[in-house]
Amino acid sequence: MDTTLPAPAALPQGTADAPDRRGWLLATGVAGGVAVLGSAVPLVGSLAPSERAKALGAAVEVDIADLPPGGLKTVEWRGKPVWVMRRTPEMLAALRGHEAALADPDSRRPQQPDFARNATRSLRDEVFVAVGICTHLGCSPTAVAAGSGHPGLGEGWAGGFFCPCHGSTFDLAGRVFRNKPAPTNLEVPPHRYLSATRLLIGDEQDS
Ligand code: FES
Repeated sequence: MDTTLPAPAALPQGTADAPDRRGWLLATGVAGGVAVLGSAVPLVGSLAPSERAKALGAAVEVDIADLPPGGLKTVEWRGKPVWVMRRTPEMLAALRGHEAALADPDSRRPQQPDFARNATRSLRDEVFVAVGICTHLGCSPTAVAAGSGHPGLGEGWAGGFFCPCHGSTFDLAGRVFRNKPAPTNLEVPPHRYLSATRLLIGDEQDS
């Protein structure tokens, strides 16, 4: 399943929920958007049991050529939503300066492959890949832009992800803010690039 929730260039404008609001606010769960069945998702239901087990663990190929700056695409891998976001230079700049407010700013807890234990939690700075499941009780957070005026977020919100269930917040690298219910950063799944515009989620060999 390949759910693309595009947002315009630079800091994206408009939202599925509130198109007249400044910034963006995106429902990021697989079930929350317009689903487009892609060839990357195995037809698990039609397979024999051993094939089905294999398909459920299969890596998923994602085309990111159509992902605009600031856009976020949701794909399904092992039954979980995985986000692929193309961060703008402004979004990358917003990752700095609030480390003291984060629970694990240096990603010391094993919530990512070794290659993503860096300042951007990614292989390439501009492309962020994360499992879109809150590490508290498993809700699907929403992407909220800086300046969106979201009632659950303060004036200084620099963009990131908000879990409406119990109020956990994550920055644009999926790092959880302190004193929130979620205990750890969002998970970065194993992944690697097959080419400049194709990602393979679920396999990190030769990253
Ligand atoms: S499930 Fe996200 S804050 Fe509780």
